[in-house]
This record gives sequence, structure tokens and C-alpha cells, in this order.
Amino acid sequence: MLVFNFLLSLGFLYTVSAQPASENGLTNNPNIFGNALNFWTKLDSGWDLTRGVKEGAITLPVPQNGPIIVQPNTTALVIIDMQNFFLHESLNGDPKGRAIVPTTVNLIQAFRAAGMPVIWTNWGLTENDLINMPPAFINGFSEDGTSQSSFGSNMGTIVVPASDPSIAATHSTPGPNVTIEVGRMLFRGTWNAQPWGDLLHEQQQGVAAGTDFYFNKNRLSGMWGPGTPMQTWLQDNSMTTLFFGGVNIDQCVWGTLLDSYYKGYDVILLDDISATTSPLSATQMVDYNAGLNGWRANSTDILAAIQKAAKKRAA
Ligand SMILES: *[C@@H]1O[C@H](CO)[C@@H](O)[C@H](O)[C@H]1NC(C)=O
Ligand SMILES: *[C@@H]1O[C@H](CO)[C@@H](O)[C@H](O)[C@H]1NC(C)=O
Ligand SMILES: *[C@@H]1O[C@H](CO)[C@@H](O)[C@H](O)[C@H]1NC(C)=O
Repeated sequence: MLVFNFLLSLGFLYTVSAQPASENGLTNNPNIFGNALNFWTKLDSGWDLTRGVKEGAITLPVPQNGPIIVQPNTTALVIIDMQNFFLHESLNGDPKGRAIVPTTVNLIQAFRAAGMPVIWTNWGLTENDLINMPPAFINGFSEDGTSQSSFGSNMGTIVVPASDPSIAATHSTPGPNVTIEVGRMLFRGTWNAQPWGDLLHEQQQGVAAGTDFYFNKNRLSGMWGPGTPMQTWLQDNSMTTLFFGGVNIDQCVWGTLLDSYYKGYDVILLDDISATTSPLSATQMVDYNAGLNGWRANSTDILAAIQKAAKKRAA
């Protein structure tokens, strides 16, 4: 179907002489970038990223270098590392990361309503991951300069108000405060590896409803190496176009975006659903390069167009 559409878009089916293919089978159309399976079409203004599948396509105003036209069933929102470990008040988490949560939730809900998958990828280590963890990573996550306070170490307990949304709904300790087992650092299934605040319920509800998908990762990038659970899912579900948000914009978000770009996905970085604890220069580097690798926008630039498409879909 994709190949058929591609040929159609080249005019092959009408007259071969109109747009002859070059000897290697690639197009001579100067506005088509790529091959029959993975291509963009350059428009008078902006880009068509639908790979020829126009039905239900959504035009998103991307002020910097758009607009872009995306196909909802091959376009996903990727939310990275919005976990208690990086964000929770009691663990000295980043207030800038907590501040982007309402904006993030708005976009998540819009993606779902438009039939576009929401992907969560978080640190979620296993014993096997610990055995294979390179020294540089163990050092990078050490709390006290020893290898014993890094990934998988026991983070003890903290006391939080009973109103904290990160407490499991099943929790039943009476009183204003709750003692929480923080768990082993960034270990799968622990409290510190859970999404922060409202995002916990957001993720759980989305996964239960089948609109959202969760993938553990064991490096900064959720797309490194020959394949990760996230990459396998993207491939199996024919995804082409990925929007990115989360923390930190210059580390795990950047790592995942860059590997996705290397592997041929369209990448769009969303400023206002990303944050970092790093100096401003780190974000500037990311912004500069993300604009070259793909697109940059704020979620507020694209929200209305996605909501409009969702309404049309529901009608
Ligand atoms: C996406 O939707 C279009 C139009 O409804 C359809 O032609 C196409 O096969 C779908 N692709 C996938 C991967 O589901
Ligand atoms: C609950 O925690 C707060 C903040 O740490 C503390 O000020 C307060 O005394 C605690 N209340 C009880 C009943 O332990
Ligand atoms: C997002 O919004 C902020 C604040 O208005 C602005 O400084 C920034 O340039 C915007 N980013 C993009 C990619 O448009």
C-alpha cells in the first residue's frame, strides 16, 4: 500500500516519462526525500510526513520550520523519565520538571483523543541490567562517589503527606503522613521509578485503556543498540513520526531523540513539555540540533490542531 501510494505520488502509474526513476530505483522528484518505504514530501510551505497515507492526516502548524502534515496512526508522543527519582520533592527532584506536568497531561489527552499512541519510556532496571551496566553509568548515578550508592542501591524510606498523588490508591495507613519505601535506585517496579504525581494515574489509566504503552529502558536512551522494547514496538506498529518530551532535555530526552533520528524516525522536540537541571547551554545545544534533525515546537503550537482532529474523529 505504501509502495503503491509512493508510486502514485511519483506519477508512475500515469506516465513513466513524467517522473522517471533513477537507475537505483529512487525518485528523481526533487520534492521527495527518501525511498519508497520511508520518505518525506516537501511542500510549498512545510513538509508532508505521511508517506503517502493521506486519510485522516493532520496539519500541524510548527512556526519555526513547519507546517508538518502527520498521519495519526503512525505518529506517537514519547514521554521520557518523568519519574519520582527525577521529580519528587522529597528526593530533591527538579521543580522545572514538575512544572511541565499540566502541559504534558493536556498533550497526552489530545494525542489519545486523536487516536495517536502515547509512549512512556522510563528507567526500569533488572538484576541482569545491573550486571551489564558499564562503569561510566554506575559512576554517573553514584550518590556518594562509591559504586554501592548507584543503580539498584536501596534508597531507604521517606515520609510524605497522605495527599501525595504518588501514593498507591490501595495504601491504607491512617494519619496525615505516609512512610514510603523509596526502593532500589531506578529498579523496575519501585516507587522511585514510578511516574511522578498525576502522571502515575495518567500512565496507568492510559495503559489499561490501550491508548498508552510503557517501555522500560536501561540507558539514558530508550532507542539504543540493535533494538529496545520501545523500538520493537515502534517497528511492529509501523510508527514513523515521534514527538518528544520529558526530563532531562539534554540527557535522556536528547539520547532517545537522537537514536530515533539515527534509526530513521521523524523527530520533533517539544520545548514546553521538556525540562532539565543542566545549565542553559545544554538546552541551547539540544534546541539547535533538534531543529536540524527534525522540528522544534511548543505543545501549545500543535494542541488546537490535534484537538480539532480528535473532534472530527469522534463525530
Ligand atoms: C493508517 O490509516 C490509514 C487511513 O485510515 C490506512 O490507510 C493505513 O493503512 C493505516 N496504517 C496503519 C499502520 O495502521
Ligand atoms: C507530617 O509531616 C510533616 C512534614 O514533615 C511534619 O511537620 C508533621 O509533624 C508530620 N505529622 C505527623 C502527625 O507525623
Ligand atoms: C516555546 O515558547 C517559549 C516561550 O514563549 C519560547 O521562548 C520558545 O522559543 C518556544 N519554542 C519554540 C520551538 O517555538
